Amino acid sequence: MATLKPATVTPPRASASTSALPPTFRVRGNDSGIYRRAGFRSGAVRYELIELLACGGMASVFLAAQFHGGHGANLDRIVAVKTPHPRLDPLDRNDDGGCSADAQDRALLREARIGASVRSPNVVQTMDFVDDGERALLVLEWAEGVSLADLLPSRACRSGGHDHAVPAAIAAGVVRSLLAGLDAVHATRGADGRLVGLVHRDITPGNVLLGVDGRARISDFGLARTAADEAHAFDRTRIEGTARYLAPEQARGERLDGRVDIFAAGILLFELLTGTALYGGASANEIVEAAARGAELAARVLDDHAVPSGIAAVCLKALAFHRDARFATARDFAHALDRASRTTVGIASHDTVARYVDARFVKRLERQRQRIAEWRSVNAGATANRTRVSAA
Ligand SMILES: Nc1ncnc2c1ncn2[C@@H]1O[C@H](COP(=O)(O)OP(=O)(O)O)[C@@H](O)[C@H]1O
Ligand SMILES: [Mg+2]
Repeated sequence: MATLKPATVTPPRASASTSALPPTFRVRGNDSGIYRRAGFRSGAVRYELIELLACGGMASVFLAAQFHGGHGANLDRIVAVKTPHPRLDPLDRNDDGGCSADAQDRALLREARIGASVRSPNVVQTMDFVDDGERALLVLEWAEGVSLADLLPSRACRSGGHDHAVPAAIAAGVVRSLLAGLDAVHATRGADGRLVGLVHRDITPGNVLLGVDGRARISDFGLARTAADEAHAFDRTRIEGTARYLAPEQARGERLDGRVDIFAAGILLFELLTGTALYGGASANEIVEAAARGAELAARVLDDHAVPSGIAAVCLKALAFHRDARFATARDFAHALDRASRTTVGIASHDTVARYVDARFVKRLERQRQRIAEWRSVNAGATANRTRVSAA
């Protein structure tokens, strides 16, 4: 059975519903302006949820405050907390089609372990994993900013005429930054110092966060696998991933390596440059067929968008149907993109990308900063009291 994440369904926005909130948590009351607090502890560290940031395909992600109250230091910082939606994990379904909370927690723990093994400024840092008895919670570095899903069209709109392309220099700068993260993912070493052959397997717009610092950061290691995982027998008839970004070998359920992530990064480059989706598909066969025609179609669309031929060639190489014809490494891809961009459209620095993000999303970013400031002012007294109590 194929368990493709739907290619054309946009996840619900945080503002659309609060049904995914844990029972003890409510966003700000309609008129009272008061937050009901919900929190959890991890040793001496206390967390309090501030608001729902996003509902992904598998989990809800909250903005939270982290307090280190020991010795009266009262250090606080803002983090992101990911907790699975109830009964949605496709890895371990119950008879009724749901899945056990245990399986979800195990999957999140696995995601935490993998995430924690990668260190790069272009990968969201994993800070903690907590099981408070009711739910598993993954504590992540908060990547203040937006995701590439905010920059890109949400549906295949190749013929729709909506042009969502970002300036080519910005596209090159963002993908350059993403490739630095991908290089770090693929270069992950185990405790014995050997490469573990880590492959992300789900490089999609929602899993690439674009910070207010202008950096792209890879997140969501929920589908990541090491070479050892790949070598194990597992159900290869179950396709995992997001249809619009699947390499043909992933759709076919073959054993994967890092070139599957190169392919997905190539699709992201294409989408950023042209503002259009390359392909989708509801079944493995459809995706493989679409991928076989993908490069030819991509060449035409890149040409229509007047993308310089050197950059188009880089994009097409990443999108090669046969993985041997793609860039062997994210670093090779990045160098080729650098060379092709510098002499033509230019390649945006982090500062330039930061200014672009700020200009496009200023209202949303400002609203979020304001909510954090409000939350702090409402909760400052209570936090100080609690710290005094726990320090006593
Ligand atoms: N560390 C983070 N900082 C800011 N936003 C985040 C962070 N992690 C996730 N998000 C937001 O939550 C969304 C869903 O997170 P993700 O980990 O991809 O969940 P899922 O496994 O359900 O796909 C992301 O697309 C992004 O918008
Ligand atoms: Mg995701």
